[in-house]
Amino acid sequence: MNNVDFVIKLGGSAITDKKSPLTANKKVIENIASELSNIKKLPSIIIVYGGGSFGHFIANKYIHNGKIISNMGISEIHSAMLTLTEIITSYFIKYKIPIFPINSSSCFVLSDNELQSFIKPIEYSLNNNLIPIIGGDIILSKEEAKILSGDKIASFLAKKFNAKTLAFGTDVDGIILDGKILPRIKLSDIENIIPKIRVNHGDVTGGMTNKLLEIKNYISAGGRKAIIFNITRFGMLTRLLSGEENIGTEVDKD
Ligand code: IPE
Repeated sequence: MNNVDFVIKLGGSAITDKKSPLTANKKVIENIASELSNIKKLPSIIIVYGGGSFGHFIANKYIHNGKIISNMGISEIHSAMLTLTEIITSYFIKYKIPIFPINSSSCFVLSDNELQSFIKPIEYSLNNNLIPIIGGDIILSKEEAKILSGDKIASFLAKKFNAKTLAFGTDVDGIILDGKILPRIKLSDIENIIPKIRVNHGDVTGGMTNKLLEIKNYISAGGRKAIIFNITRFGMLTRLLSGEENIGTEVDKD
């Protein structure tokens, strides 16, 4: 399995307008593609994206007590994510980024609540100098469907491909406590920080809390480092990819 430099999650809050159903934040997506196109030698990257006002909006209509209540819900959530995939892909192609969209629902299933994966398409994309891109989605088990968040996919792939950095691009400058951005937090601080940060109720997969829990699992399982940064600010992605420090909140081992 190849190693990658970065797994970057494009948060739904950044690449869509979470207040407007099924609305992409096209300016942010275009800026991401444009930044990538201006970097002379791109490091190896896997890109993951969230559902934002596509996946979450439809999922909210169909999820009751944590369960998806109709098969049409399954189809519609998947379809909404395909639409978002198409929008992102079109901007990357406009900027001549060799993107290769991969479908989560075809690469992941649940078996006894365990994630089973077939990630050869991602591996082979990297081998072929393509940038694999994969989104949060609805995935199936024998009995039901569940939402697989982009956060989970990102940490899973960062582990599998031994990423140097797992980066979460959001619409905020990092973890903010008492109005200040925390530049660095340690693994053992995460549990204390979670109750103090704001909760986003519109989000079926748990917003920033879930991100921190995902990062905690990731670093505990040997992940190297994670960064939460603001990808809606033009230039931040370039700074991240050039290895600059202090661009958001970094989470390291104790
Ligand atoms: C959610 O993915 C995917 C669906 C709702 C289908 P995420 O949970 O990663 O999405 P964001 O980034 O929070 O919007």
